[in-house]
Order: sequence, then C-alpha cells, then structure tokens
Amino acid sequence: MKRSTFLILSITGVYSAVLHAAAWSVNNFLMTGPKAYLTYSSSVAAGAHSGMEECKFQFGWERWNCPESALQLSTHNRLRSATRETSFVHAISSAGVMYTLTRNCSMGDFESCGCDDSRNGRVGGRGWVWGGCSDNVEFGERISKLFVDALETGHDTRALINLHNNEVGRLAVKATMKRACKCHGVSGSCSIQTCWLQLAEFREIGNYLKIKYDQAHKLEMDKRRMRAGNSADSRGATAETFHHVHPTELVFLEDSPDYCTRNASLGHHGTEGRECLQTGKNLSQWEKRSCRRLCTECGLRVEERRTEVVSSCNCKFHWCCTVRCEQCRQLVAKHFCARRDTAATAPNHIRRRNKGHKR
Ligand SMILES: *[C@@H]1O[C@H](CO)[C@@H](O)[C@H](O)[C@H]1NC(C)=O
Ligand SMILES: *[C@@H]1O[C@H](CO)[C@@H](O)[C@H](O)[C@H]1NC(C)=O
Ligand SMILES: *[C@@H]1O[C@H](CO)[C@@H](O)[C@H](O)[C@H]1NC(C)=O
Repeated sequence: MKRSTFLILSITGVYSAVLHAAAWSVNNFLMTGPKAYLTYSSSVAAGAHSGMEECKFQFGWERWNCPESALQLSTHNRLRSATRETSFVHAISSAGVMYTLTRNCSMGDFESCGCDDSRNGRVGGRGWVWGGCSDNVEFGERISKLFVDALETGHDTRALINLHNNEVGRLAVKATMKRACKCHGVSGSCSIQTCWLQLAEFREIGNYLKIKYDQAHKLEMDKRRMRAGNSADSRGATAETFHHVHPTELVFLEDSPDYCTRNASLGHHGTEGRECLQTGKNLSQWEKRSCRRLCTECGLRVEERRTEVVSSCNCKFHWCCTVRCEQCRQLVAKHFCARRDTAATAPNHIRRRNKGHKR
C-alpha cells in the first residue's frame, strides 16, 4: 500500500512537469519515469496508440471521428471537457494500454512477468482443468493503472469521471476474455480438456466499448452544491452521484456539440471536406446514412469526385510459372461534403478558368 502510493506520487510528479512543459500527445503518453517503469514505456505508448487507432475505426463514419486532439484535450487542464466522446477516448486508450502490457507479458517480453498459471492443475468445470498460458490481466491492469490513472492530477469532478471511464476500459478487457481449450484423452477422444483464459481480439473490445458509448450515462450533479465552490462539498456531491453508477457504465457530464462546424479552439474539425459512403457493396445501414449524417444534416451538399484507379486485371497463368496481368483503369466515384455556396462565392474569373481546365 505504502509503496504503491509512493510510486503513484513520483510518477504524478513527472507527469505534471511534463504537462506544464509542453502540449502533449499520445506519443508522450509516457516520457521519462522512475527507472523500473522505463521498462514498460514502449508498451504503454504502443497501447495508447492502438487505443486511438481503434477509436478512429469505430468512429470512422461519424461526425466526431476521434481526432488526435481528443486525448490531449481531455487531459489538458484548460480545455478539458467531459462529453460522451471523451468518455470513450479514456476507456479505449486505457483498455489499449492494459491490453498491450498483458500481451507483452504473455509473449515473454518482460522479465518480471509471465503467464498467469495460478489456477493450473485445478478442476475448472465438468471435463476440464486449468492449464496452459492464461493471459496475465492482473499484471496488465496493475501497470496500466499506474501510468494512465496518474495522468489525472486534478481533484475535481472531471478527474473522477476520467478515472471512472479509465476503469470501464480495463473492465472491458476482462469482460471480453475467452476460454480456449485443448483436447486430451485416448486418440483425441477429448475426454479431458485443459483450458486457459485469453484476451479477445482488440476489435471486439472496441465493439464492446462502442455499445457502452451508445448507452453512456449523463451525470446529473447537484448544481447548487457544485457551484458553492467548496471543493470538499463538491466532492461529496460527486461521491453521492457516483453511488448510482454501475462500474461498467461510461459516464459524462456535458452534452456534445453537433460537431458539424469547425471550432479550432475546441479541436473540432467540422465535417466539411469529409468523405462519406454512398455507393459500394455491403454497406451497413449506418454507413449508407453517412452522407446524410455528415453532409446534408450539417447544411453541406454531397459532392461526387471521380478518380481513376489503376489495378491489375485479366491475370493469366503462363506455363511455367509466371502470372501476367494487364493494367486496367477504372473510374471510381467518391463522395465528399462540400459547402453549398462555393460556386456562388467564387470570384468570376476563377470559375471561368476552371471551366477551361476541366479534367
Ligand atoms: C509490446 O508490444 C508492442 C506491440 O505489440 C510492441 O510495440 C512493444 O515493443 C512491446 N514491448 C516490449 C517491451 O517488447
Ligand atoms: C468555439 O467554442 C467555444 C466554446 O463553446 C465558443 O465560445 C466559441 O465561440 C466557438 N468558436 C467558434 C468559431 O465557433
Ligand atoms: C457481403 O455480405 C454478405 C453477407 O453479410 C457476405 O456473405 C458476402 O461475402 C459479402 N460480400 C463482400 C464482397 O464482402
């Protein structure tokens, strides 16, 4: 207890120095730390990065598409917001860090840790016993907590919300774990199996947290007690509110803007210029509505741009043994959100010149 408190304090010191020194990004999620923790720095950075990549995938066709600034803004002191979106960013990046550390551990990347074999040999259920290499999530959880939670240096409601959402991410890693088994017995009869717990694909954790995002819970704080400005009192109000929140539920404090328009100071890019999907095989309902969601409903029009794509085609096998292909050119239509009035506001001479150079 005492020792871990000391570690958190020393890391916190390093982080606040870092935060004051420069604007930071995923890349400096981990700067320098106490020596022992340098061991984990590349994993922590890789984990935070994979969390943000998954965030970009999950929000690929939505107005808010997980810009790089998202993680930065949520922890940056001056501009911190606590929206539904930042709750997802916290959960997915904390899950990413725990996931990568756990994976690294099972791969034998760290001297100090290995598979979780604490249950090996015990009967797990009818016809199976624990065995093999279970992923050591306890290790991943412990180390990721030290790094990620230490970034919350504040003592206000937002800090508590971020810490809660970090924990939701870590619980998601555990909740999606799977039992994998191997058969034993006379000539593969599978009369007895050995089983271990392994991490799910990270995509599955992303899908799981996306559902949590859709169901995220808005905290209704006692505004009078909050506004009183007494930090002890507002902490009390927060603790009371958190009492009703389920540990696996994402929480947020502020309603989101519509994310249609650019607001540089908030780090929102707006949807102008974004690609959307209109044609293509096997689009989901959600993807099919992307042009309406990103462009039309934001007061923009859908602009079609045709581009030529060159690819290999008509490949033939020649005896023996080469494959020869032709180069085929194909026009591919892509769709983008554009401002309604571009043609009307463009100066005349530019419009005329463009006409002459039409490709
Ligand atoms: C842990 O895994 C990540 C991604 O797989 C990798 O980038 C990193 O270098 C690994 N860390 C160690 C210490 O091997
Ligand atoms: C950006 O958002 C801030 C805070 O909501 C607001 O005060 C500001 O006017 C916005 N700027 C633009 C250009 O919309
Ligand atoms: C389209 O979706 C169907 C059913 O979901 C699937 O069987 C098929 O392989 C998909 N086709 C392509 C080109 O992805």
